[in-house]
Amino acid sequence: MADYTDIILACISARENSYCPYSGFAVGAALKAKSGKIYTGCNVESAAFTPTCCAERLAFFKAVEAGETEFEAIAVIGGSKGEEIKNLCMPCGVCREVMREFCKEDFKVISVIDAQKFRVFGFEEILPNSFSGL
Ligand code: THU
Repeated sequence: MADYTDIILACISARENSYCPYSGFAVGAALKAKSGKIYTGCNVESAAFTPTCCAERLAFFKAVEAGETEFEAIAVIGGSKGEEIKNLCMPCGVCREVMREFCKEDFKVISVIDAQKFRVFGFEEILPNSFSGL
């Protein structure tokens, strides 16, 4: 199996800066581009709720802004701020659609509990029979 240690550790660090005063649910993400570079994100909430950006989408948008359009894998970790993480956090539907825009069938989603405990999902598993505009 591929080694995802770099993005697993990066998503754990990215979660530390989550801004989530409304939900109290802190998420971190780390996206690896095919160039080898890693782009991180955390969720950033808003009092108006809808402007909230998920950690995964922030990582994608930073990467695209930097000129990347081809990606290998994203690692995601989420749970109540300040508490031990016990469950996998899966990307929301909106983030899955953003992934679909840029990712091929070989893209992997790594849902992380800690550096030793994680699950690897193939993209087709989490967004089967998806719509593609292109
Ligand atoms: N959230 C993410 O950042 N990623 C996900 O995949 C699921 C949800 C954020 C959005 C919101 O700030 C908080 O988690 C609770 O929904």
